Amino acid sequence: SQATSVQQQACDSFPHMEDEYADVDWDNLGFGLIRTDYMYVMKSLEDGTYKEGKISRYGNVELSPSAGVLNYGQGLFEGLKAHRNETGGLFLFRPDQNAIRMRVGAERMCMPAPSVDQFVDAVTQIAIANKRWVPPPGKGSLYIRPLLIGSGAILGLAPAPEYTFLIYASPVSNYFKEGSKPLNLYVEHEYDRASRGGTGGVKTISNYAPVLKAVTRAKSRGFSDVLYLDSVDKKYIEEVASCNIFVVKVANPSIKVFRFIEILQSRSDIHEWINPTPKPNVICQQDRVISTPTAMGTILSGITRKSVIEIACDLGYQVQERAIPVEELMQADEVFCTGTAVVVASVGSATYKGNRVEFRTDADSVCRKLCTTLVEIQTGLIEDKFGWVVEI
Ligand code: COI
Repeated sequence: SQATSVQQQACDSFPHMEDEYADVDWDNLGFGLIRTDYMYVMKSLEDGTYKEGKISRYGNVELSPSAGVLNYGQGLFEGLKAHRNETGGLFLFRPDQNAIRMRVGAERMCMPAPSVDQFVDAVTQIAIANKRWVPPPGKGSLYIRPLLIGSGAILGLAPAPEYTFLIYASPVSNYFKEGSKPLNLYVEHEYDRASRGGTGGVKTISNYAPVLKAVTRAKSRGFSDVLYLDSVDKKYIEEVASCNIFVVKVANPSIKVFRFIEILQSRSDIHEWINPTPKPNVICQQDRVISTPTAMGTILSGITRKSVIEIACDLGYQVQERAIPVEELMQADEVFCTGTAVVVASVGSATYKGNRVEFRTDADSVCRKLCTTLVEIQTGLIEDKFGWVVEI
């Protein structure tokens, strides 16, 4: 099998590979880099296709000083996780979705991308080769970070002549230093994250450095992260620097509640990927309405975001993708964030222009239900009726 041959190849060149676990303090994992044994590298050919990717020992990469990624930021990244179950099995969560998202982003950034099969195969190989770094069940996961960079040398502003697809991995647990405690968000009204027609909707590396100023300032004031508003009206909530956002409101019981997903996305090729198939109007069982900003190009189409939408619909909640005024956030009953790194994190407070409001974060919260269901699917504890989990 693929797993056996990758593992054998790895054991031959790295004796510790046979150990069940690497020497890591599994009880104190956060979201810091822990170097693992192997990385994956595959270069583009002249015709823009990719071939002969290889697993190699983890280490530095060599780049020309005039590489496209260093000079003009031509690069994308992805993030996905491998979990280990009680019997030692490894599970990847929706790796095909990361592959497709990288291809969508690559098209926007004028880069050739690996095929979905190449991407999924490479991610599978890197998870298996670094298996001893996948935390024990309940202690975290192996965060897998694929990169696509313009590695070819270029001086004038143009797409690089060569690209490198790289993957490395690190064991992780909670993303925020708060651990699993509720987050305190700062609603940013000075800096913007993304503008219409820009690249906010794809996972380009150049979306992330510009948020550091606001995030660093907010963290120094005791906040967990920054929530950005739309850059045109500064009126609607968009995205947290590291994750997507949802708000929950108890529905007015006198209004008949329908389960309905608003579809505004028009590009047919990525339409189905960004927006889950709309459900017919079915009477909703739950009294709470979950809303999240529509991914229309300024918000990253999170894979956890769309998985949570599908889980919420399946649990009988009404889910709406729409423009959400910041005032509505400030009046929400509950607020939570989603992302691969963040998973599903409850928000305890939001501060906007000096006003701080608090939200419910108790055991009966929607956030808690969605988080539990998602993690149980990801770790193979409950049946995956969506077909998202790939056992490797
Ligand atoms: C992820 O959730 O995988 C991300 O890429 C967010 C990043 C800020 C860690």
